[in-house]
Amino acid sequence: MIRTRFLAPLTAFALVSAVTGCANLERSRDVSNPAVPGAVLAQQVCANCHGAGGSAASPNFPNLASQTGPYLVSQLKYFRSHDRSDPPGYEYMWGLTRSLTDSQIDGLAAYFSASPLGRQPVEGEAGQIAAGKRVFEQGVAANDVPACASCHGSGGLGNSIFPRLAGQHMDYLVKQLQVFQRTEQRSNPTTMPTGEIMKNVAHKLDERQIVEVAAYAQSIGN
Ligand code: HEC
Ligand code: HEC
Repeated sequence: MIRTRFLAPLTAFALVSAVTGCANLERSRDVSNPAVPGAVLAQQVCANCHGAGGSAASPNFPNLASQTGPYLVSQLKYFRSHDRSDPPGYEYMWGLTRSLTDSQIDGLAAYFSASPLGRQPVEGEAGQIAAGKRVFEQGVAANDVPACASCHGSGGLGNSIFPRLAGQHMDYLVKQLQVFQRTEQRSNPTTMPTGEIMKNVAHKLDERQIVEVAAYAQSIGN
């Protein structure tokens, strides 16, 4: 009995080594190998652009740290299926997600949603932030714009499919609001139903409100 119990793990190990050609799965950057755990890819691959732990120092890349798990899962699947097609999305994220398995996507989402978002410099101006706070908390009654807080949470921390906006880079938020407002690149009633919800909100915002509300959201927590 003792002998078989001792041998079984060794056999399993030999098999894994044979299949992976002795690649070190704990340090692999191979996004097309389904055996590499999501948390490993997060550190070896995603961190190059999205920063260590998903806190992106460069405003060109969205923060992933402390983003909600269900939102991360939805976006990775939208990239993988090529439904989310805003240009930086397909240039950067289509290739990276092409071969990810559902369980790797779950692992990536678990890793980043549990990772704390580091404090970052405030990117907007004081006047923009103050005006944006009103839109965020109260909406714009005259144009039927609902309060962002009603879905994204009063502190902008997000909840389930409603993404965290607090601390997200301002320029990224502005661009995404424009994508929802002007294009179908992130919204479709059948394939991207969560994007469709946001499209209905974004099309009622004007240019200035977009910049102001993005400035406020980025400032929360920083
Ligand atoms: C070469 C740079 C690069 C790498 C590496 C990279 N990303 Fe991205 N990622 C981007 C850019 C740029 C965007 C913004 C796309 C856009 O504007 O639509 C993005 C967007 C995202 C988004 C959408 C964020 C949001 O708030 O909607 C998620 C989720 C994401 N990446 C996850 C990952 C994961 C997980 C990995 C590792 C497997 C990864 N990325 C690796 C550049 C990169
Ligand atoms: C009725 C609910 C609802 C309201 C109200 C709402 N949102 Fe959203 N928002 C969503 C959902 C759902 C998503 C996720 C879309 C997706 O899955 O692509 C989203 C996504 C976003 C994104 C993209 C985030 C990212 O990381 O790419 C931004 C930016 C955003 N919302 C800003 C706002 C602002 C600003 C307001 C207020 C003017 C607002 N939202 C009001 C539901 C809402």
